[in-house]
Amino acid sequence: MSSQASKDHPEGQKPPLLVDDHTVATVRDSRILVLMRGLPGSGKTTLAKDIEKKYKDSCRLISADVHDIKPVARGASGGEYAKLDDELSTCFEKREANLVILDDTHHDRERLDKLFDMANAYHFSVVILEPKTPWRLDCAQLKDRNHWKLSLEELKNLRPTLEKDFLPLYFGWFLAKRDEDCLRKTSHEFLEQLGNLKAFKKRLQAYGCEDKQKLDLLKYFGKSPNILHCTAKFCDYGKVLGSEEYAQQEAVKKAYSRGYTLHISALFATPRTVGAQVELTADQLLIWPPDAEKEVMPKDILPRGSRAHITLGTATDVQDVQTGIDLLEFVKLQQSGREGESLGELTGTVAGKVSYYDNGMWLLNLSRKIEVRSIFSGYYGKPGVQVPLRGKKGLLNQCQIM
Ligand code: A2P
Repeated sequence: MSSQASKDHPEGQKPPLLVDDHTVATVRDSRILVLMRGLPGSGKTTLAKDIEKKYKDSCRLISADVHDIKPVARGASGGEYAKLDDELSTCFEKREANLVILDDTHHDRERLDKLFDMANAYHFSVVILEPKTPWRLDCAQLKDRNHWKLSLEELKNLRPTLEKDFLPLYFGWFLAKRDEDCLRKTSHEFLEQLGNLKAFKKRLQAYGCEDKQKLDLLKYFGKSPNILHCTAKFCDYGKVLGSEEYAQQEAVKKAYSRGYTLHISALFATPRTVGAQVELTADQLLIWPPDAEKEVMPKDILPRGSRAHITLGTATDVQDVQTGIDLLEFVKLQQSGREGESLGELTGTVAGKVSYYDNGMWLLNLSRKIEVRSIFSGYYGKPGVQVPLRGKKGLLNQCQIM
C-alpha cells in the first residue's frame, strides 16, 4: 500500500477482514460477497484492492469501472450491467473464488436486490463495506477525486442514497462454509439417532404420529435456512423499532465483518423446530440486544443471551423465528427447576445425554461443546429463503409403520 493510501485508510479504520487474524482465517473458509459502497472518489477502490491483495488466489475483484459503468443518480441497473453480471455469476458458478469483491457505488436499491438474490442463489453471505475516509461524503472534495469527472450537482444527487446506513433484514453471525457443512451433518446425525431412540419412538403423538410408527425426522423438519446463522438483531430493513439505534452502536459497527467462534452447548428438537443452543461469550453479548428475550417472552425474566440459537430446520408451515421461542421454553423449564427426564444417550459426533420435557420437547446436552466459526454481518435479501433439509424428497409420508 502506498503511503498516501495508508494515510487515507489508517490502521484503526480498516475492516477486521484486513487486520484481524481470526477474521482472516474465518473468511478464508467462508463464502462471502463483499459489496463496496460509497460515492465515487470516496476510497472504495483502494480498500477493495487492499482486500484483494490480502486474500490473493481465493479472492476475485470485479469492478464496475472496468466495465465502464458510470455511476448516475437513478438507473444504472439495466443493460449496462449485463457483462459484469455474467462475470459475477460465472465466478459464483465455477467457484472461482470464495471471497468476491464487487467495486461499485451500490446506490441503487433495485441493483442491490438483484445482487442479494444472486448471492443467495449461490449461498454467499453478504458484507457491505464503506470506506471511512474523512471526505467520503464531502461532494466538493469528491468532485476533484472521482475519475468519472462527475459534477458537484451529480454528486449531490447521488449523496442522499449513500449517506444513510443500509439496514439488513437481520444482523447475525453467519457460519463459515466449512463449519456450516459440519453442523448440517451433525444436525442430521442428531435427528437420525434421536429418531431411532426407543424412548422417542414411544412418544410420537406430539409429532402427529401414532406411537410405534417410525418418524423420519429429516423429512419432518423439511426446510433449513439458506445459510446457517445465529440472529442477533432482527431489523426488517429498519422497520423494527430500535434497529437504527442498534446499528449505530459503536460495538456493532466494530463487530461488523469480524470473525467470531460460536459455542454450541446443546441441540434440541420440538414438534416445530430443530435447533442449536449457542452460549454467547462476553464479547458476543456486547452486541446482543438487551431486549431479545423480552421481545418474545415479555412476562419472564430470562438470562441475557439465552435466546441465542441456530435454526437447523423447521416443520411444515413453521417460521424460523419459532426456534428461539422453543429454546426459551426449555430455559424457562430449567429455571423452574425442571431438569427433564433422562431418557438415553447419543454417541459419536453428537455424544451426550438426552432429556425429555413433555410435549415432544427433546434436548441433547452435548458432552463436548461444538465450536463453529462465523462472520458477524447482515442478511439483506428477501425473507424466507430456505433450502430442503435433505435432498429433494417431499415433505409427506413422514410417519411410516415400523
Ligand atoms: P431465527 O434466527 O430463529 O432462525 P424469515 O426469513 O423467516 O423472515 O426470517 C429471517 C431470519 O430472521 C430467521 O433466521 C429468523 O429466525 C429471524 N427472525 C425472523 N423474525 C424475527 C423476529 N421477529 N425476531 C427475531 N428474529 C427473527
